Amino acid sequence: MPEFHALVPAAGFGSRMGHELPKQYMPLAGLPMIAHALGTLCANPDISTVFVVLAPDDTLFHSYDWSRFGEKLQPLYCGGQTRAESVSNGLLASELEPDDWVLVHDAARPCLTQAHLNWLIAELRDDEVGGILAVPVADTLKRSDDENRILRTESREQLWQAQTPQMFRAGLLSQALQICRNVTDEASAVEALGLRPKLVLSTPANFKVTYPQDMLLAELLLKQKSN
Ligand code: CTP
Ligand code: MG
Repeated sequence: MPEFHALVPAAGFGSRMGHELPKQYMPLAGLPMIAHALGTLCANPDISTVFVVLAPDDTLFHSYDWSRFGEKLQPLYCGGQTRAESVSNGLLASELEPDDWVLVHDAARPCLTQAHLNWLIAELRDDEVGGILAVPVADTLKRSDDENRILRTESREQLWQAQTPQMFRAGLLSQALQICRNVTDEASAVEALGLRPKLVLSTPANFKVTYPQDMLLAELLLKQKSN
């Protein structure tokens, strides 16, 4: 039986956050941000290993106590210049079986819940290709000119916002990322092979913490989760 593993790229700087600490280590609801996603992934009984891909010169990860996660949590010091490179390097270092499923999840999405994870795995475990969590676009979409004036209104029909985890067979994903290197998510690399990953309905709560003002919303959602 193929196994399920998680891989968390965490080798970025968080330049849009503009904080001296890399975003994944910023304090959030009493823990470094990355601890929230790692905790959720490690607590899922279907997931065998949680790999976390760190920058080769990361000195912060080992300054926290991760012992509660035991052997399930495996740091890999092989992050790259881009997210895609970090994921690709992590996949090679993890030495997974080609048929194993890998769930790639951003360290910067701390509000992932067990319900999100269980739904994604249930929807995709028998799928040929794999897929991603995503939400249908809710707002009206405007195309602008270079003076921020509206050129036209775009249809939002059949438009989705991609989230993570993105779940694919380890062999397929590794191959896709070696061919297609300048992508901002895993699905794009798989799409470039001519395959059609499935969109699995998520919720806006699994948003990516990107700007300083996102911290407050994440904090509120995490506090509500622990109540
Ligand atoms: N990431 C990574 N390696 C990189 C760049 C990003 O592992 N070279 C990771 C980040 O640590 C994060 C995830 O990819 O967990 C999503 O990226 P993003 O939210 O864009 O984080 P950053 O790249 O750190 O932030 P920014 O783009 O604002 O610099
Ligand atoms: Mg980035």
